[in-house]
Amino acid sequence: MKIKGKHEHTIWVNENDNALIQVFDQRYLPHRVDIFDIRTTDEAAFAIKEMVVRGAPLIGVTAAYGMYLGCIEAKDKERPNLFLAEVATKLNDTRPTAVNLSWAVHKQLNALHKIKDPQEKIKVAFDMANQIKQDDINISKHIGKFGVEIIKQISEKKKGEPVNILTHCNAGWLATIDWGTALSPIYHAQKEGVPIHVWVDETRPRNQGANLTAFELGEQDVAHTLINDNTGGHLMQHGMVDMVIVGTDRTAGNGDVANKIGTYLKALAAHDNNIPFYVGLPSSTLDCSIMDGVKDIPIETRDENEVKYMQGKVDGEIKSILICPEATPALNYGFDVTPAKYITGLITERGICEASEKGIRSLFPEKYD
Ligand code: MRU
Repeated sequence: MKIKGKHEHTIWVNENDNALIQVFDQRYLPHRVDIFDIRTTDEAAFAIKEMVVRGAPLIGVTAAYGMYLGCIEAKDKERPNLFLAEVATKLNDTRPTAVNLSWAVHKQLNALHKIKDPQEKIKVAFDMANQIKQDDINISKHIGKFGVEIIKQISEKKKGEPVNILTHCNAGWLATIDWGTALSPIYHAQKEGVPIHVWVDETRPRNQGANLTAFELGEQDVAHTLINDNTGGHLMQHGMVDMVIVGTDRTAGNGDVANKIGTYLKALAAHDNNIPFYVGLPSSTLDCSIMDGVKDIPIETRDENEVKYMQGKVDGEIKSILICPEATPALNYGFDVTPAKYITGLITERGICEASEKGIRSLFPEKYD
């Protein structure tokens, strides 16, 4: 996807230095397009924890490159495999809900543990990280190709009137490498000339909708309107939403979907108004070791100051302002879980399926092994 008309990925290896991984610093978008350098495993962990990068698929790819940097750091260590296990724990501990993180770290560990030669280790980890990145691009593209068919069907019924799609948080290309998950069908619809309009939930407290989704849709010239988090239900009651598409940070084997806090309430409102509610799901986000998502998916609790303060641009500078009494305590869960019964379908890279064990098994039987 594009920033200022130039095609970009969210993460890349510096063209002159293979040991330098670079990302867009998402903490300052849309006000500043800064690049953040990742040279060490500590910097990779910092980038994930502090949300320099965020979004389950991008977190996974960053962790994969983090393991590669770990191999570079491991080459002078007496016990390289022990050191790599410690790096894996450090990366895994940064954010507990997005399962792509541990998925990517384990993929690297499995490939690396038998290799003795340090240079060979580095090469295998580098190739693996590049492969995970490339696979993510292909997966997002396929989610778009399948998902656009749903938008086209709605468009036909609306006889060419714009299809109004509501989305929560940011599950666009900034949450992945390219295309996005929830937004990929939208970008494909735009490419195919299907008229669309997107309702963008601001997504308090970190405002991924206002800061990131609005930014990336704008850069792609997709028609959109920012709404506060409480508006969706009202729009749905008045026929102003044709479908909802969200992403996911972890989907359990029974089809329950963990996504940014507030997603569940949108699903309830969609259900009450007979509005289809879809989830863009890359298989790297499936966790079939959990069969009851509501009960067992770990939910990240973040710093209370993310709720108490809001960040924005004031007089040309990015500033934080306190929005409640200083002493007020705040609670900040990052995610909630939408039960499978409220989900119309999962749009995956292998097709669309029901949000249920049966549905997921029909496309990804190997995930239950
Ligand atoms: O806390 P974040 O910004 O990493 O959370 C991301 C989300 O919850 C997104 O909605 C997304 O759907 C998951 S990543 C495609």
